[in-house]
Amino acid sequence: MPSSAPVRRAVANEVNRLRGSGLIVEAGSGWGTLGIHLAKRCKEWRVVGIENSPFPLRVSQLLAWISLGRGSKSRAAFRKGNIYTWSYADANLVVCYLYPGAMQHLGSILHRELRPGTRVISVCFALPGWSPEKVVTCRDLYRTKIYIYEVE
Ligand SMILES: C[S@@+](CC[C@H](N)C(=O)[O-])C[C@H]1O[C@@H](n2cnc3c(N)ncnc32)[C@H](O)[C@@H]1O
Repeated sequence: MPSSAPVRRAVANEVNRLRGSGLIVEAGSGWGTLGIHLAKRCKEWRVVGIENSPFPLRVSQLLAWISLGRGSKSRAAFRKGNIYTWSYADANLVVCYLYPGAMQHLGSILHRELRPGTRVISVCFALPGWSPEKVVTCRDLYRTKIYIYEVE
């Protein structure tokens, strides 16, 4: 299930509020709609989306090419991969919208691999044992929460 338009806007606002730049890794990029939105709205960042499901992955690659045009790959690239074995060492920010069972496992991986100060933004599901620096409630039907963390 892709994140809704209000959620995409709220994530982009938070990314811009951080005033950083560099590489966003989206763990589980689905159809690519969130990653493409971030590539369009967050000019200082480029996005790499990781997805293990072939059909949504192909659609995300096509959508990126259509909506970002020439040079789209330098703004948003979608790669086949497993979020549990991907290397996050180069990430300046990780964004995810997964499911409760994924969060514990992903949390340990991110804690091990990310540099201190790197931010993690999780849509809907909190990272167990992590303390968010901020929680945003979106203006969607479900009042979806977005959790923003800084790696210690
Ligand atoms: C809820 S969708 C969110 C999609 C997108 N991030 C968004 O916000 O619109 C979660 C995505 O994570 C992908 N996913 C789940 N487990 C994964 C794994 N181990 N490796 C790669 N992708 C995974 C699913 O296939 C699905 O497309």
